[in-house]
Amino acid sequence: MKLKTTLATVALAGTTLLSTSASAFFGSDDDSIKLGYLVKQPEEPWFQTEWSFAEKAGEQFDFEVIKMAVPDGEKTLNAIDTLAASGAKGFVICTPDPKLGPAIMAKAKSYDLKVVTVDDQFLNAKGEPMTDVPLVMMAASEIGYRQGSELYKEMTKRGWDASQTGVMAITADELDTARRRVEGSIKALNESGFPSDQIYKVPTKTNDIPGALDAANSLLVQYPKVKNWLVVGMNDNTVLGGIRATEGQGFAAENIIGIGINGVDAVNELAKSKATGFYGSLLPSPDVHGFKSIESLYKWVKDDVQPKKFVEVTDVVLITRDNFKEELAKKGL
Ligand code: GLA
Repeated sequence: MKLKTTLATVALAGTTLLSTSASAFFGSDDDSIKLGYLVKQPEEPWFQTEWSFAEKAGEQFDFEVIKMAVPDGEKTLNAIDTLAASGAKGFVICTPDPKLGPAIMAKAKSYDLKVVTVDDQFLNAKGEPMTDVPLVMMAASEIGYRQGSELYKEMTKRGWDASQTGVMAITADELDTARRRVEGSIKALNESGFPSDQIYKVPTKTNDIPGALDAANSLLVQYPKVKNWLVVGMNDNTVLGGIRATEGQGFAAENIIGIGINGVDAVNELAKSKATGFYGSLLPSPDVHGFKSIESLYKWVKDDVQPKKFVEVTDVVLITRDNFKEELAKKGL
């Protein structure tokens, strides 16, 4: 996978700033436009891929991308100060917490910075989606539905007895995109005829492998009679946490089917020499998210073209150990 190496790392006011060029922050000789790209979880290849395609847009349209990691609210607000001080005109953001929406917008407004959101939608003080802020996101319910359908298909192919099978659905309901994906997946399983009383939900405290692993462990001990598990979760790391828990509790890979979402975060797992319970992943379009979000911000800043309020990215492909290299290559990943 071609993930660009970052050239400059500057720690400033508690903010991690990763820029493609030092001049993007310290000021360059030319007066090219600077735009931020702030992500909540820079350790996920998903977000690294968005960054790398945002940089491609920057090369194509001639603007500078200031990449920043914003794992919490304080770092997010500091990052906006830093961006304003560097002369940036706006930023794309995947917020660490949707409820920060009003605070982020107030701060951005105070500096006259334009904002485009990506992946996770802002919520207002009443907990309602802030539909006036432009958003680029995946078709969450549909992609979740596909996860459920593919799990059922693979279980049928393996000839599993549904009565001995459970669904482990690791939830993160406070994040709307996660809730919609998992609900979509459960809907597909129900509609396929999977017994709904064998679909067990468990919330994860954090959206990473350790959080999902803890959640999954607590669920597995409650249902010791289940022989086979289907693992549902909002992204690859969530499903990987579930898989690691089944391994820890002695399940063989052939008794487990997990299908993640993100694709790019599943590459190491799918490349392992021996198959695990992680059967595959649905690869949406981090390339499109990264490129389109910042392209629309650039056109807004440069030519005052208003971005669309909502861009829903629907394409998705199932990658498995058999096809992941080709499918990633097709997207230039
Ligand atoms: C959320 C998840 C990420 C990724 C994006 C995609 O932000 O936390 O892992 O799935 O959605 O839109």
